[in-house]
Amino acid sequence: MLIGQSPSIQALRKRIETVARTQPSVTVLIWGPSGSGKELVAQEIHRLNPLTSKGKFIPVDLSYVPRELAGSRLFGHERGAFTGAHDRRRGAFEEGAGGTVFLDEVSSISLEFQGMFLRVLQEREFSPLGSVRTIKTNARIIAASNENLWEKVQKGLFRQDLYFRLKVLQINVPPLADRKEDIPLLVRHFIKKHAAAVGCPPDLDVEEGVYEELASRQWPGNVRQLENVVIQSLASAEAGKKLRVRNLAPEGIESIPSRDGITASLLDLPYPEAHKEMQRIFREMYWARKLQQTGGNVSQAARLGGVLPASLHRMIRSSHIQARRMEND
Ligand SMILES: Nc1ncnc2c1ncn2[C@@H]1O[C@H](COP(=O)(O)OP(=O)(O)OP(=O)(O)O)[C@@H](O)[C@H]1O
Ligand SMILES: [Mg+2]
Repeated sequence: MLIGQSPSIQALRKRIETVARTQPSVTVLIWGPSGSGKELVAQEIHRLNPLTSKGKFIPVDLSYVPRELAGSRLFGHERGAFTGAHDRRRGAFEEGAGGTVFLDEVSSISLEFQGMFLRVLQEREFSPLGSVRTIKTNARIIAASNENLWEKVQKGLFRQDLYFRLKVLQINVPPLADRKEDIPLLVRHFIKKHAAAVGCPPDLDVEEGVYEELASRQWPGNVRQLENVVIQSLASAEAGKKLRVRNLAPEGIESIPSRDGITASLLDLPYPEAHKEMQRIFREMYWARKLQQTGGNVSQAARLGGVLPASLHRMIRSSHIQARRMEND
């Protein structure tokens, strides 16, 4: 279930409903930063259309599939199609008949398979590797990417015709940084979701200040990262009591915020504030990196950055976030 009440999540829900009403033969491209909920959005589109909801939802993560296997995973193969192909195997487009095939990180498909993929989108048919048979598919194809596909097209790594074919029906998933008001709802949801596994009550008390602290972080890894922080924090909360600020795992603090995340939220501020905020983000990113490189040693980090240790200590003191990080060290 897609949790959130922020304006951007409400708009996303509307968009999902509109898209889900289209015929399954219409391909959908979901764009959004990593961990923002792209697969969840795809599952909603699958669930809301009566022509796909009875079939399977087949996720294929193309970013981890070695190049040779990607073709087989998508199109299937005949026995002996390549070394190691001992048996015939059905691919995602066959398995997903009457359902949905979700292609995560579609930008990773090699040029070789992009042509075959285009054929599936255009003709709704394909041939398993090593076969001349033609198989029809009626699966809804939903592709996701967190990379700028157009840049890949310009570098010659992604076919332009495939790009235009994919982007007809596009959904953008906003970064968590643009919907921080959803953090309390998401945290409650994740507590309930993981309570049993970590052995805490599903309605665990949350100390005042926890949501504020989490909302002050950058979340380059978006909702997935928030979920991880909740799991880690639950594990360190005293059994059955309260989730306290001091239990919060320090993640999301020192990681580097995404450029898009920064610009999107900063561009709405008055210039002096935006400028100050940008400097603060940069200062924190910069020193978090240096401190990471030196294992938290302030003098060494200062030397690496070309300032006096006293100056870095001052910056750390004036920065809530770094100070907390140091306490944990
Ligand atoms: N709005 C939301 N409500 C509830 N759970 C969410 C929401 N968004 C994301 N999640 C949860 O966060 C985790 C990451 O989401 P998901 O896998 O859909 O992201 P993704 O964009 O596909 O990530 P990646 O780019 O890493 O593939 C999942 O456990 C998912 O259930
Ligand atoms: Mg994903």
